[in-house]
Amino acid sequence: MEPLTERFSGSFTQQEPLPDEAVEAALRVMQSGRLHRYNTIPGEVAEAAALEEEFASQTGARYCLAVASGGYALACALRAVGVQPGERVLTNAFTLAPVPGAIASVGAVPVFVGVTEGLVIDLDDLAAKAGEARVLMLSHMRGHICDMEALMRLCDARGVIVIEDCAHTMGAGWNGRLTGRWGVAGCFSTQTYKHANSGEGGLLISDDPQLMARAILLSGSYMLYDRHRAAPPPEAFRDLRLSTPNISGRMDNLRAAILRPQLRDLDRQCARWNERYRVIEAGLADTPGLTLVARPDAEGFVASSFQFLLLDWAAEAIRAVVARCAARGVELKWFGDPQPVAFTSRYDSWTYAPSVPMPESDRILHAILDMRLPLTFSLEDCELIAQIIRAEVSAVFQGDMTFPAASGRAE
Ligand SMILES: Cc1ncc(COP(=O)(O)O)c(C=O)c1O
Repeated sequence: MEPLTERFSGSFTQQEPLPDEAVEAALRVMQSGRLHRYNTIPGEVAEAAALEEEFASQTGARYCLAVASGGYALACALRAVGVQPGERVLTNAFTLAPVPGAIASVGAVPVFVGVTEGLVIDLDDLAAKAGEARVLMLSHMRGHICDMEALMRLCDARGVIVIEDCAHTMGAGWNGRLTGRWGVAGCFSTQTYKHANSGEGGLLISDDPQLMARAILLSGSYMLYDRHRAAPPPEAFRDLRLSTPNISGRMDNLRAAILRPQLRDLDRQCARWNERYRVIEAGLADTPGLTLVARPDAEGFVASSFQFLLLDWAAEAIRAVVARCAARGVELKWFGDPQPVAFTSRYDSWTYAPSVPMPESDRILHAILDMRLPLTFSLEDCELIAQIIRAEVSAVFQGDMTFPAASGRAE
C-alpha cells in the first residue's frame, strides 16, 4: 500500500509529443511554403484533401471536410441542414460550452435535454421535447454514448435530424457502428485535448451530398471544390455555389499533415486510453459514497477523461474532496459548482439560452467529478491517482471535512 500522503506529480494537461512522422510531415509543408489548402502545384494533392480522403475511408463516410475547429464543424453542420435564426435546436444539458455556442452562433436557440446517471442524454426527456425542434445536436459528452438505436428510432419517428458532436468519441461506437455515422453528420475536434492533436482543428463527415456540398462551400472553398477528394460530384454544387455564403473556416495543410499519421495510429492510442481508464475504474470500485458510471457492453467507448459521481453529497463535502485531491496533485473538476470553473459550465450557466430548471438533471450535474486522462500517464500513475481519490473520498465520506492547503499547481 502507498502511504496515504503520497502525492501525484504528473500534469493533467500534458499530452504526448507528436510522432516523428508528424513532425517530418510538418517540416515538409513548411519547407514547401504551400500551407493554404488550395495552394497546390500541378498534380499535387494537398495534405488537407488527403486527410479528408483518409478520414472518410477510416469512418466509412462518403464525404469528409476538414475545418478550423470542432466548434466550426458543429456550426457548419447546423447551417448546412438549413437551421435558421430563431429556430430551436435540441441539445444536451450536460455538454461543454462550444456546443450551445455553435447553436447560438447561427442565431438559433438551444433547448436543453436532461442527463441520466449514465451521463448520456435522457431519452424520456428527449421524447417529451422532440416536438419542439427539427434538429438535435447530440453531444457524446465525455465519451458517454447513449443507446443509439433507441435514439435514432425516436428521432426518425419524430422527424428530428441528428447532428452528432463527436469531439470526445473519435474512434468510439455503439454496437459496432462508429459515432458520427448515426446522424446526418458527425463533427470531430482535433484540438489538443482530444484524440488527435493539431492544436485546433475539426472534421465533418456525412453521406449526404447536398449537406456536404453546402458545408464545403460554407467553409470557404471559393470555386475550388473540385480539389476535394472526399466531396460529392460537381453536380451537387451547381445550384448552391452562388447562393451559399463563404464563412471561412478551412483547415490548412500544416495541421492536416500532422493529423494524418496520428489518425493512422488511432486504434492503438484508443486502446492505451482505455487501459488507463480501466485501471482507474478498478481502483475506485466499491468506494463507499462514490458511484462509477456504468459502461454498457454495446458502448465501444474511447476514454480520454474519467468521470465519477458523488450522488447527493453536500456541496461542502464535494469541495473538500476536490481540495484534498488537489493537495495531493490530483485535479478534479466539479460540474456542480454554481460558478463555472475552467470548462465546467452547464445548461443553467449559459444565460444567453433561456432554460427551465431540470431537478433530476441538476442532481446528476451536482454529483459529477471529472478528470483528464492524458496518455502521458503510465498505468502506475493511474493506480496512484485512483488510490488518492479513493482515500480522500473515503475520508470525507467518514466525516473528515478538513481542507488542506491548496497545492498551488497550475490548472
Ligand atoms: C463536447 C465538445 N464539443 C465540441 C467541442 C469543440 O471543439 P473545438 O475546441 O475544436 O472547437 C469541444 C471542445 O472542447 C467539446 O468539448
